[in-house]
Amino acid sequence: MVHALSRRTGWLLLVAAVALPALAPGGVAAPQGAGGSSTAGPPAEPSLRDQAVGAIARASNLFARDLYQVLSKQTGNLLVSPLSASAVLALTWLGSARQTAQQLGSALHLPQDYQHVIYGYRALFNSFQARDSRVRLSLANRVFVRRGLGLREDFRRLANETFLAGADEVDFSRPADAAFALNEWVRVNTNGKIEELFSEDQLSESTTLLLANAVYFKGTWQTKFDSTLTSEQPFRTPKAMAAAAAAKAADPAKAGDALRSNARTVALMSVTGDFPYARLPDLEAQALRLPYVGDRVSMLVLLPDAVDGLPRLEAALSKLEVSTLLAQLHVEEVNVWLPRFSLHTTVPLNGALQELGLGGLFNGSADFSGIASSPIFMNEILQKATIEVNEEGTEASAATGGVFFLTAADLYNFFRADHPFMFFLLDDQTGTVLFQGRFVEPE
Ligand SMILES: *[C@@H]1O[C@H](CO)[C@@H](O)[C@H](O)[C@H]1NC(C)=O
Ligand SMILES: *[C@@H]1O[C@H](CO)[C@@H](O)[C@H](O)[C@H]1NC(C)=O
Repeated sequence: MVHALSRRTGWLLLVAAVALPALAPGGVAAPQGAGGSSTAGPPAEPSLRDQAVGAIARASNLFARDLYQVLSKQTGNLLVSPLSASAVLALTWLGSARQTAQQLGSALHLPQDYQHVIYGYRALFNSFQARDSRVRLSLANRVFVRRGLGLREDFRRLANETFLAGADEVDFSRPADAAFALNEWVRVNTNGKIEELFSEDQLSESTTLLLANAVYFKGTWQTKFDSTLTSEQPFRTPKAMAAAAAAKAADPAKAGDALRSNARTVALMSVTGDFPYARLPDLEAQALRLPYVGDRVSMLVLLPDAVDGLPRLEAALSKLEVSTLLAQLHVEEVNVWLPRFSLHTTVPLNGALQELGLGGLFNGSADFSGIASSPIFMNEILQKATIEVNEEGTEASAATGGVFFLTAADLYNFFRADHPFMFFLLDDQTGTVLFQGRFVEPE
């Protein structure tokens, strides 16, 4: 990971998860896609749709919680879009069967009722199609498939109708061209924030399929920070505090300087205003919600009371849902200090998904027979994400790609006679060899 801030930052950020509570009943935009339900339907329909979206949003947030718990074991900054990851996995689930489908359904916390899930995803993805000039929030899914791989018609249709994911045929035998097509799609759908998800070296002739998702958000704070109030301040990490304490003990005369000379500084922005806020004594933390213009997205910041309180807060959050926290917030006047920062991360997801019980995706035992007739397995799933937070607002993007290979047993499907070979001419009716020869060099 590349870190703009110190590796030892002591606070926690939940970005993508907070886009979803805005989809509570009544907040869902009317579906516009090919398979979307019409707003002129029977009166009961909107509430069914809201229920379905609610179930998927909740499932997505439970997956987010699990994923964060696994990823947070690493040290340092972290940024992930759980929604982007779960979109790729849900698309994978759509084409998986038997045990693989069960494992994915359970890791994604999907409801049992298949139609309910399909309906929920369709409504969720459609809600991102709604255009609001005040906020830019987009989500796109795409299928890149090796030319010649027989993509199942049902999968193609469901991916299109439910995930609004078109399918592009790509010539993976030319990795440079394939990488260009994929990365161009990623670049366009992240507004240029992510230029490359996979390099040509990461794609190979064995690549048969790539399922991709991209999320982009740009929003302006409803209450902007006044940049004249931003100032360079020490960022108090447990390590900096310990170093400062040691320096202080060694030379009490330098006590005033101890923190400043032992901590990295950040540009600390400030604003005072009315915000949804709560003290959470049980969690030894405070929660603050900073809404963006447009009322669809907000940033929820959870700040531990203690400088070294983040690991305890993270552990406590493994048993809580974001919606429970949001329900405790009340609008109050708050004096807010928040660093201006940016993060750019690359998150390989294979290991994390293995810990979440999805190891089976990555070996030949996986059953993706709903996607294609040839046996394939997921070779790699990777996410890149960026965020920039400043006085005006926030810009964040993420792209996730799941790369599928043909299983080894099926490698004979690659027939590239670019080296010496033998040949026979057979009479198929009698089974006799009419001619036999070899080709070792062009004449
Ligand atoms: C879904 O399929 C329809 C009909 O073939 C097509 O017009 C549309 O562009 C597809 N949607 C996407 C997202 O590619
Ligand atoms: C594939 O992964 C699953 C789940 O981790 C495991 O149970 C199974 O033994 C693995 N199969 C092979 C062939 O490695």
